[in-house]
Amino acid sequence: MKFTVFEEIDSTNDYLRKNHKIEEFEVIIAKRQTAGRGKRGRVWISDEGAALFSFSVKDKENLQEKITIFSGYTVYEILKKYIDENLKNDDFSENLKFKWPNDIYYQDKKICGILCEKIRENIIIGIGININNNDFGIFQERAVSLSEICGIKFSVEEIIKEIVFLFEKEFTNLNKEWERILEKINEKSYLKDKIIKIKKENKLGEKIYRFLRIDRAGKICLIGKGDTEESKFESLDFEVIL
Ligand code: BTN
Repeated sequence: MKFTVFEEIDSTNDYLRKNHKIEEFEVIIAKRQTAGRGKRGRVWISDEGAALFSFSVKDKENLQEKITIFSGYTVYEILKKYIDENLKNDDFSENLKFKWPNDIYYQDKKICGILCEKIRENIIIGIGININNNDFGIFQERAVSLSEICGIKFSVEEIIKEIVFLFEKEFTNLNKEWERILEKINEKSYLKDKIIKIKKENKLGEKIYRFLRIDRAGKICLIGKGDTEESKFESLDFEVIL
């Protein structure tokens, strides 16, 4: 596994997009990003102390929906391990949840966001995790870092290595292991029993939906109030209201 570390670049996803020759699983790490990107064109605050990294894989079998969820699963596993090791109390890591399509939450605060982008035959996986950083600007009330949870500082590069290592190891068996991964993701879903509203063009709709599950195709399944049939979405902007 090859790692390239930059003190500062615009965005590790953009770096991979521009440098076609970078090989599968070669990891681009930034200590800071000047133009970190989140989903739906949002800005990703990219201060020192956070894990900010990207790598790419070949999309051999139309793996995109699976990869999005799978990358969240690998981050979940490693963060859970760190919380278990450092808090020595099973209940603490119970607070760690997977939020479809690929965010990780601790209680009601976001600790990790993932941006997967398909570029030609490759998928770029960009991961941002709050590790030692604790200034989240306007998101202060809605974000948390691993060091805030555990009360100590961590080696950011060590955590990145563990995540990419696990990803690479399990990636080869992704199709075979898919049911098991999905079961885990559904069991640890932040959206379990939650009521949501759908957002379109940044406007929240009136209708309320209850989260049901994530299906085998990686789609979110919801039931709308008064509906007899469930609705499934491959991609969706939404807000949890209850
Ligand atoms: C989100 O939750 O909106 C996704 C955030 C993804 C942020 C990471 S940080 C490393 C990589 N480079 C970027 O510009 N974005 C991703």
